[in-house]
Amino acid sequence: MAPSTSAPAGPVAVVRAARRLRGELHLPGDKSVSHRTLMLAALANGTSRIAGAGDGEDVRSTAAALRALGVDVERIDEDRRTVGYLVRSAGADGLREPAATLDCGNSGTSLRLLAGILAGLPMTAVLDGDASLRRRPVARIIEPLRRMGAVLHARHEDTLPPVTVVGRTPLQAVDVQTPVPSAQVKSAILLAALRAQGATTVREAVATRDHTERMLRARGVAVHSTAGGDGSVTITVRGGTAVRPMDERVPGDVSAAAFWLVAGAAHPDAELTLRGVGINPTRRAVIDILRSMGADIEEHGAADSAAGGPDVGEPLADLVVRSSTLHAVDLGAADVAAAIDEVPVLCLAATAASGTTRIRGAGELRHKESDRIAGIADGLTAMGATIEIDGDDLTIRGGGRLAGATTDSLDDHRLAMTFAIAGLLARGETTVRRPGSASISYPGFFDDLERIRA
Ligand code: S3P
Repeated sequence: MAPSTSAPAGPVAVVRAARRLRGELHLPGDKSVSHRTLMLAALANGTSRIAGAGDGEDVRSTAAALRALGVDVERIDEDRRTVGYLVRSAGADGLREPAATLDCGNSGTSLRLLAGILAGLPMTAVLDGDASLRRRPVARIIEPLRRMGAVLHARHEDTLPPVTVVGRTPLQAVDVQTPVPSAQVKSAILLAALRAQGATTVREAVATRDHTERMLRARGVAVHSTAGGDGSVTITVRGGTAVRPMDERVPGDVSAAAFWLVAGAAHPDAELTLRGVGINPTRRAVIDILRSMGADIEEHGAADSAAGGPDVGEPLADLVVRSSTLHAVDLGAADVAAAIDEVPVLCLAATAASGTTRIRGAGELRHKESDRIAGIADGLTAMGATIEIDGDDLTIRGGGRLAGATTDSLDDHRLAMTFAIAGLLARGETTVRRPGSASISYPGFFDDLERIRA
């Protein structure tokens, strides 16, 4: 039978409505954890074995940048969605000045976290990326890293990449309140703090994903987190502790799982099983939001990928999603921060839900791989959705079935995948322009899409 999705690697993908969705999927390794496990392996003196890492282009950018810093990063083939790495490093003091600009491609996490590492090293390095990354804000990392003693410059009055980092050893410890809820900013400061004299404190008004904290603890660095009752968190790390090498299996990416959760819940004849998904409490909001909308999602066999206590390692579960009757939801700024990468696909879920969904305080979405507020509204509106944008707030009137139309990913992986899932749900045929961006975080996404339309 001819596939119902044509030419995913070409300039457009055409996705036809699915009659049924069935199957079992193994997801790519979590992108956030994959970046960090590579970077921490580079900072540790010794050998680290990594299994199940994401093999998207973003994680490859981090691996390439670490090689350019002199780290031996060997790829070990697994399958199309995950990859292993064997990392041999002489530790942070063994990193060498790169001979050329470090190309972070499309990856904001690579650029911002590497800036934090480079800030504490006695070398000069330039971090750059593609046209999308060159539009993304960097003042948020430049300011705190300067306060720690590093010298940083960037284009457009120090607001946009490329970023030049002139590192300093040691750095000074600081006490910083992050300007926006951003795990990338928090992590850049925590990574720099490893090379600072004294204890650095990062205060977040709204807690963001805590992979860096968990992974540092697992590698022998004392990281103290104190939750305020209001959703805020204060994190303290003392400089000077060595990062130990470690073997790790990366959990399946819950942000990738989110596409199938929405497909399964919103489709009238669906049952999908997703294996080994990371359900870290600071990442699982999309599951809980969908459940609050009525989604039938079961969690089975929760287990931790690493021993060592509740805030070390990443909890995992198999998820089963079935056809559900969805209803609207109200999301505020804290929900947006907790499900920052899943808001586009949650907007799609809202179009299938009865009632009016409101998403407030979503401004950070404008600073992602594209302006995701504009991009999602354009694509879903073309498919017949009713979406209003008022500043940083979205209102989505749901309930009707979408109709196939032409959508544009804007070269943004999360929009490409959201519109492809919309195509499974909509009447007729949906065209996704620039679908290849899906491989930024999910190589093999369009193959999985074919497999589940059984
Ligand atoms: C990430 C943090 C988030 C998220 C991104 C990955 C990370 O960005 O959108 O995909 O790995 O730390 P911000 O922290 O900038 O919001």
